[in-house]
Amino acid sequence: MSYARKISLKTFAYRILVARLAMMTVAIALLLAVAVYMMEQTRLEQAFVAETRKDLLQLVARTQMIQSERKGNFSSAFHQAIEESAALRQKDELGDVVYIRFYLPGIPGAEEYTDSSLGYHEAVRNHMRALPRPEPGAKQQVSETMKIDGHLLLHAVLPITNIKQDVSLYTQVVYAPSEPVIKSMNKSVLRAALGVIAVVFMTTILLYPVIVRLVNRLTAFSQNLITANLETLSLLGCVIAKRDSSTDEHNYRVTLYAVRIAEKLGMDAGEMRSLVKGAFLHDIGKIAIQDNILRKKDQLTAEEFEIMKTHVNHGLDVVTRSTWLRDAEAVVGGHHEKYDGKGYPQGTSGKDIPLLARIFAVADVFDALTSVRPYKEPMGCEAALEILHHRRNTHFDPEILDVFMGQAKSLYQRYANRLSDELRSELLDVAGQYFHDGADGLTY
Ligand SMILES: [Fe+2]
Repeated sequence: MSYARKISLKTFAYRILVARLAMMTVAIALLLAVAVYMMEQTRLEQAFVAETRKDLLQLVARTQMIQSERKGNFSSAFHQAIEESAALRQKDELGDVVYIRFYLPGIPGAEEYTDSSLGYHEAVRNHMRALPRPEPGAKQQVSETMKIDGHLLLHAVLPITNIKQDVSLYTQVVYAPSEPVIKSMNKSVLRAALGVIAVVFMTTILLYPVIVRLVNRLTAFSQNLITANLETLSLLGCVIAKRDSSTDEHNYRVTLYAVRIAEKLGMDAGEMRSLVKGAFLHDIGKIAIQDNILRKKDQLTAEEFEIMKTHVNHGLDVVTRSTWLRDAEAVVGGHHEKYDGKGYPQGTSGKDIPLLARIFAVADVFDALTSVRPYKEPMGCEAALEILHHRRNTHFDPEILDVFMGQAKSLYQRYANRLSDELRSELLDVAGQYFHDGADGLTY
């Protein structure tokens, strides 16, 4: 047997509040950390491009000078210039140029330099060789960050223009930021994330008491509404009991019997609420039946019975007008259906009859048989169960009847001779269990 999950409305509200605040803190901290990281990267790229462009222009000028002095080829002049250019290989504060590739627009082949002191220089060279040679256009430069072997590197394509301002060379440069620079970046990101968490946390601490007060007020307001709705429900049941020959006790008992069967079947709190509403309002449609039929002590004529049957549709007409009562529809509309299809108003049979209506039918007939009425004495429990048993598979769902039979005697002893106030008190406990405390129907 399983039980419905129940948490209080207040606990539910607190849980949502704490979860949302935690999610908001993490989301804002992550967003800001990413933004700071990207800003740091951009700042580093700009510093690197500015730093490198000057050195590259000197390197190109020196290469051209060597080439014109010695009438050698570009390749040997380039490598000699590289060797001379200590500046490029000096480790500075920001980092170090670890790869340079020169190439001419539209001409295959390239000259490259790789800093072999770098532990992963081969990975850098292979990666760069695999890349296409971009030609972004005169005076345009491209820079980006990339990761090779888990190391953060900066890559730039810088066009070198000649005296006529035409692009004479493209250079691809890879720059490895120094450890202090990377640590500084990471520190900035961490500082930003921690700063945001601190700000959001402080804001939360300040706002939390205000929000909790609001939640408490809203919860109290909501519970007052539920209480008012339950009172209206009870009143409507009482109104119809005043009109026909039934009593308040019948409404209380039939609801308690039905709830206890449903609990054995492991129904959830939402279904329990529908069952309680339906049980209270099952005969609400009788309000539309004239007294000479409703209160008639003799047997109804066929014509009168047809009119009496209309109380089901009158009841549906009433409950479906209310959003809060609409889920009583299953019991109100199906409480006179029979398992063999010989009930009314639809003649629905078997499992096509809503489960709540099948449960209620057993509770309703048992209580009608065992209750006193102005026109009859109450039947004993054993005799009533005998009648129910004879209607197994015809009137009642056999599985539900079996569940009820298993606990019928103890329920009869518990409820049959209880006073109205006692029954009402137990019913209020049930309502508290499934209405006031039941926040399971709410969604985030
Ligand atoms: Fe009815």
